[in-house]
Amino acid sequence: MRKPKASAKEPPLRIVRTVSDLRAVVQGWRGAGEGVALVPTMGALHEGHLTLVRRARERVRRVVVSLFVNPTQFAPSEDFTAYPRDEAGDAAKLAEAGVDLLFAPSVATMYPPGDATAVSVARLSAGLCGPWRPGHFQGVATVVTKLLAQCLPDVAAFGEKDYQQLQVIKRLARDLHLPVEILGVATVREPSGLALSSRNAYLSVDERKIAARVYQVIGGMAARLAKAPAEVAKASAAGRAALLAAGFATVEYLEVCDAKTLQPLTVVDRPARVLVAARLGKTRLIDNVPVVPAT
Ligand code: PAF
Repeated sequence: MRKPKASAKEPPLRIVRTVSDLRAVVQGWRGAGEGVALVPTMGALHEGHLTLVRRARERVRRVVVSLFVNPTQFAPSEDFTAYPRDEAGDAAKLAEAGVDLLFAPSVATMYPPGDATAVSVARLSAGLCGPWRPGHFQGVATVVTKLLAQCLPDVAAFGEKDYQQLQVIKRLARDLHLPVEILGVATVREPSGLALSSRNAYLSVDERKIAARVYQVIGGMAARLAKAPAEVAKASAAGRAALLAAGFATVEYLEVCDAKTLQPLTVVDRPARVLVAARLGKTRLIDNVPVVPAT
């Protein structure tokens, strides 16, 4: 009998679901002297995630992507059940991107029965999204700590789109002495300026046009503050009014913060970030940009 022809498509992506299988593969690479990167995701992958994979690949030989929709970072009222899930579609994208391994654990693997440990990062988790998403950053910090301990990568890549999350993860890695470099990767945007997000799938065609205003508004604020650093209050009030006029139902926050500590600023006298969360229909959008001082 003839052997079936090898598919002309990408080689199938290797998928593991247990920590011991993940460790066995990673140890094999380490034994061969190869560096390892981890790109944690909740799936519903888009170009933003694939950019994280490419940046990670620039740093090391092997890239692991984890796919886990983490229940502990969703409040009971949030979209855990509705969150888009398509493991087969995600695996095809990752195979094409040349990812070496997909780690797709179950909830019971990540949170074994009797699990009693949580990681929380004080102060950085308190402001911005913190009050609007109680428990969210503790859920993120806990699952990311577990993923880093399971994989023990040299580098782990996260998008700047979730800027507060990125600062929380940098801090937990530092405070827990985890031997990993946390790599922040610039936000990938649609031509309209809308930041790519798995949750953009919830937007209607009309809402997508309105959503693009977020980047225009915060970009405009950052440009104004670069020239007039003391105008934080005026720029914030104008930005909030512009978002509400564009059709956003609520602006949860629109703040100018210290880029590292995330403490709100009234004058931009150090590296700063404009950060926003606003609701459009049933979608919650977040975004942020740096304030680049005028030279
Ligand atoms: O940014 C995300 O997709 C998630 O918060 C993360 C970092 C994968 C943790 O579940």
